[in-house]
Amino acid sequence: MSNQPFTVATFKERKAAKVPVTMLTAYDYSMAQLVEEAGIDTILVGDSLGNVMLGYGSTLPVTVDDMIHHGKAVVRGAKNTFVVVDMPFMSYQVSAEKAVENAGRILKETGCQAVKLEGGVEILPGIEKMIAAGIPVVGHLGLTPQSVNQLGGYKVQGKDAATAQKLIDDAKALDKAGCCAIVLECVPARLAEKVTAAVGAVTIGIGAGSGCDGQVLVVNDMLGFSNGFCPKFVKRFANLHDEMIKAMKAYKDEVAARTFPEEGTHTFKIADETLEKLY
Ligand code: KIV
Repeated sequence: MSNQPFTVATFKERKAAKVPVTMLTAYDYSMAQLVEEAGIDTILVGDSLGNVMLGYGSTLPVTVDDMIHHGKAVVRGAKNTFVVVDMPFMSYQVSAEKAVENAGRILKETGCQAVKLEGGVEILPGIEKMIAAGIPVVGHLGLTPQSVNQLGGYKVQGKDAATAQKLIDDAKALDKAGCCAIVLECVPARLAEKVTAAVGAVTIGIGAGSGCDGQVLVVNDMLGFSNGFCPKFVKRFANLHDEMIKAMKAYKDEVAARTFPEEGTHTFKIADETLEKLY
């Protein structure tokens, strides 16, 4: 593919050329820099920051201000990458007017390129207003974590004919409304393939198989920041948990043994005459 910057138009070009779109989450400046340096196409400032960065048990407590705070930091760190910022729970469900107002705030204050929101036909009026206002929108179907209480847990979605058909219908509606991409989370791989073939928008899978037009993972999961529970669909491409603990323990031991900081290497000098003048 070309070295042109990734824009909203690039999604369709990639789909036509069958070149997968890569996406990783990032929540802060340093990680955004790393993701950009690695050449990942797009960054998602996911509301998963509620779990990953803020220690909540779900994404529900996350606010628009939280998303803007983290979104701004990510955009500062990845100035040449297409950044999508999640709209948090209750920032778009109340009314189409409120939805477009919050989406506009997120776009204006963070400098991101698109917003993402969870749901299908029920949130279409808000999505249509955003797109009409010039705000690129990424949809999110399948397991929609903001609806965890209604779904009864973090479960695979679309396993029976009725829910699978609803997912296809929702995807077609989001596509028709003009969403540039649709995240498909935790849906059977063959259903994700069907959705991918049915829409012009790029499908970005997470737990949805390799037949999607692109893939997304939570960066902390794929880097192995934690050695706790890891969903089945995550591949740990590194084990940074062990590496980080090893480094921190080595630091602790060296401080205890006074071998760090090392004279000359990590220290600064002062002239003897200066020291002698001190009382
Ligand atoms: O919030 C998030 O990180 C997401 C991804 C899991 C797609 O929505």
